[in-house]
Amino acid sequence: MKVDVLLGLQWGDEGKGKIVDVVTPDYNIIARFQGGPNAGHTLIFEGQKQVLHTIPSGIFRKNTVNVIGNGVVIDPITLKAEIEAIEAKGVDVASNLMISRKAHLILPTHKILDKYSEESKGKKKIGSTLKGIGPTYMDKTGRNGLRMGDTESPNFKAKYNALVEKHQNILGDYDYQNILNEFESVWFEALEFLKKIPLIDSEHYINQAIKDGKKVLAEGAQGTMLDIDFGTYPFVTSSNTITAGTCTGLGVAPNRIGDVIGIFKAYCTRVGSGPFPTELDNEIGEEIRKIGHEYGATTGRDRRCGWIDLPALKYACMVNGATKLAMMKADVLDKFETIQVCTHYEINGEKVDYFPYDITDLEITPVYKEVKGWNKDLTQLQDLKDAPQEFLDYIAYLESELHVPISIVSVGPDRAQTIIRS
Ligand code: GDP
Ligand code: IMO
Ligand code: MG
Repeated sequence: MKVDVLLGLQWGDEGKGKIVDVVTPDYNIIARFQGGPNAGHTLIFEGQKQVLHTIPSGIFRKNTVNVIGNGVVIDPITLKAEIEAIEAKGVDVASNLMISRKAHLILPTHKILDKYSEESKGKKKIGSTLKGIGPTYMDKTGRNGLRMGDTESPNFKAKYNALVEKHQNILGDYDYQNILNEFESVWFEALEFLKKIPLIDSEHYINQAIKDGKKVLAEGAQGTMLDIDFGTYPFVTSSNTITAGTCTGLGVAPNRIGDVIGIFKAYCTRVGSGPFPTELDNEIGEEIRKIGHEYGATTGRDRRCGWIDLPALKYACMVNGATKLAMMKADVLDKFETIQVCTHYEINGEKVDYFPYDITDLEITPVYKEVKGWNKDLTQLQDLKDAPQEFLDYIAYLESELHVPISIVSVGPDRAQTIIRS
């Protein structure tokens, strides 16, 4: 068997959690391969809502194993809170969740460093979620990090102290002691709590599962335009959010990758700082935000809203090797007479149809094609044969531009509001 991948093609929050939850019955294992508590994946079913940050979105389906892979960074405090919230809903998390020994730990001082870094950047701040993501991945690549497997070592406290000392040297006289005092003991308590979740060598576990004919789905976090290599650098996260991240974040070889399901909204959003060519900093953007409830699932911040951006989407399909697409939140556009689709950019008077090197300092004017809206309520739609023609035209137009079939169409936040095309 091969590992299928589901990941975001835009700037995150495309609806990954919802679709992973929908397709989980087709899989034996759901595995996260990167990111950490910066993610907020929303699941809504049977009148319940749950936002997941570190736990894979298969956790509510019985008989599915959920794996937090080596590429993920873990904050024990957030993970404990998440487990407790799910247990309160009657799910036996400990029997359905496993954590890679090689996953790195987010220390309280990583979160302080994240805040310190953002404050020292001033107006140039990334708009980080302040979950300690950047500093933790820096320690990973700087070969200083602590991993979940270290918690099994008798020297763990000494390793922890050595890393904290490094952080204190960086922080100097920055005012952080109160935060550290508040969180350090809670952090160690949370690690104790996590002892009930099995630590595994997840690369062996997943490769054995593939050999045994089990079906594995890798669940991305963030989105392609936030990828550390291919996103709108430096306004990105600190991990590889693209398909290749599955290989390094789970120990799965490239020739073991099967379908790559790229997920996007029928429009576009971004939270945090950084370039966003099709942003609508006006009443249309505000309307999309209100109808689509575009407020961060992790931080509650307003999400910036804009029209769909084809050059960015084509780029994302290319670097991910997307084989299928899922289009989300089309219902949010139900009331729009017309919809704009960005087909090109204009840069220095020239028409550009690819995603350029560094768009931070470029004066980019999006060029739009206007398409007719469907002006009908899609939220009850169960079958595309009942869909308004304008909506079918919108899907067909995007497919013809992206050269990848749209095989999932989502028309509402609930699990049930999903159309799978054969
Ligand atoms: P993720 O990070 O990619 O999992 O996405 P988020 O959960 O952060 O954000 C997606 C938001 O849109 C959540 O509030 C979902 O409940 C909601 N959502 C998902 N699909 C749809 C849809 O098709 N229509 C509408 N209206 N909302 C949706
Ligand atoms: P999900 O998985 C949207 C953004 C932050 C910031 C930048 C860097 O829910 O789609 P970080 O905390 O990672 O150092 O922040 O990345 N960001 C997200 N935006 N969805 C996410 O995750 C995000 N995770 C990080 O807003 O701009
Ligand atoms: Mg999210």
